Amino acid sequence: MKIMVVGGGGREHAIIKKLKENKNITKIYALPGNGGISADAECVQIGAKDIKGITQFAKDNSIDFAVVAPDDPLVLGAVDALNEIGIPCFGPNAKAAIIEGSKVFSKNLMKKYSIPTAKYEVFNNADDALEYIKTAPIPTVIKADGLALGKGVIIAKTRAEAEDAVHSIMEDKVFGESGNNIVIEEVLEGPEVSVLSFTDGNIVVPMVSSMDHKRAHDNDEGLNTGGMGTVAPNPYYTPEIAKICMDTIFLPTIRAMKAEGREFRGCLYFGLMLTKDGPKVIEYNCRFGDPETQVVLPLLESDLFTIMQAVSEGKLADCEIKFADKAACCVIIASKGYPVKYESGFEIKLPEKTPDTDIYVAGAKLADGKLLSAGGRVLGVTAVAGSLEEAIQRAYEHTQKVEFENGFYRHDIGKRALAALKK
Ligand code: AMP
Ligand code: GLY
Repeated sequence: MKIMVVGGGGREHAIIKKLKENKNITKIYALPGNGGISADAECVQIGAKDIKGITQFAKDNSIDFAVVAPDDPLVLGAVDALNEIGIPCFGPNAKAAIIEGSKVFSKNLMKKYSIPTAKYEVFNNADDALEYIKTAPIPTVIKADGLALGKGVIIAKTRAEAEDAVHSIMEDKVFGESGNNIVIEEVLEGPEVSVLSFTDGNIVVPMVSSMDHKRAHDNDEGLNTGGMGTVAPNPYYTPEIAKICMDTIFLPTIRAMKAEGREFRGCLYFGLMLTKDGPKVIEYNCRFGDPETQVVLPLLESDLFTIMQAVSEGKLADCEIKFADKAACCVIIASKGYPVKYESGFEIKLPEKTPDTDIYVAGAKLADGKLLSAGGRVLGVTAVAGSLEEAIQRAYEHTQKVEFENGFYRHDIGKRALAALKK
């Protein structure tokens, strides 16, 4: 079996390492992969958004199965293009990926099918949005409709901040065409939970829950990032809450997508907030989360490739999906200055692997046999252990063994989760 994984970050590295456990897979290509991934797959310099290049490569190399991991190619129709030339894929087609590609779509879907989410209004011009803000409850949340590298959400604490957000998104177009339409919604409060799920459009199987840490610095200070670390499971996500989510959010969502003629096959990511009125959807993503994947997949005991094939064939009900009754913690090492301005090209020396740790490379390249930093988020150091406390401790012990002078990391990944467990 020859497999192709589209993408080149820590998430893709975690997916590839897990796929390698299947002995029927003889070859894995990563498009484009990165300098760290090249230890586990053959990296091919074709960008994740180059749909033509991706399909041509798949054809030329007789690829048997493709995993499309990032949002951009999914929304651009990479799966449609690959299916058209007869290559089965893990990942939704463009019609289904719109659940992440357009926040206006996903909010309207939730309203139509009574799926709990924040109250909202949609605007397609700045004047109407500014008029609405004059009397809107403050603080408020302003979201660009389309993809914006995870930066398209602004929580405005004052009316002036809300007005600035509308000007910059709709007039200055800081997120390009993604800001042609915006959603303005109420602020929700409560612990956040990420739940990735496998779905073939008919049934939905949630994976172990997780908790992301989005701010750049300790104590949730600094700017929002792509994610500075994760833990799994998320202690706020109790079995009672999981049942409510299944009945009021997960199943209604996949049924709604099917009813709309947009059957979703792949990994559907539910970003949830556990409010005092019950769990509500903050966002949907049409893909595995990053760095959630780096704690969720190491806990998966079943074979990932078997599950992915079942998802693509609509036969998920036949699959056994088991997660270890353990905990995992991932600490992201980023380049100093991330998420704003940072330098690349610093040498990284990785410690020897231990049985309960793994390092997923997100932003690095190989030059003369040396691993050099090449991005904002550079490494994800994951540890798995019997308890969350132990997983956190081991992840930090291993993180300290990494040699990378331009790196920084948060020191409090999992601290809130641990406090919640001890309550
Ligand atoms: P996103 O880019 O959609 O992942 O959103 C980034 C972050 O903004 C989320 O993880 C939440 O912490 C926050 N957020 C988004 N929508 C809301 C909301 N309605 N109320 C409070 N926080 C929100
Ligand atoms: N960690 C958040 C995301 O993948 O969107």
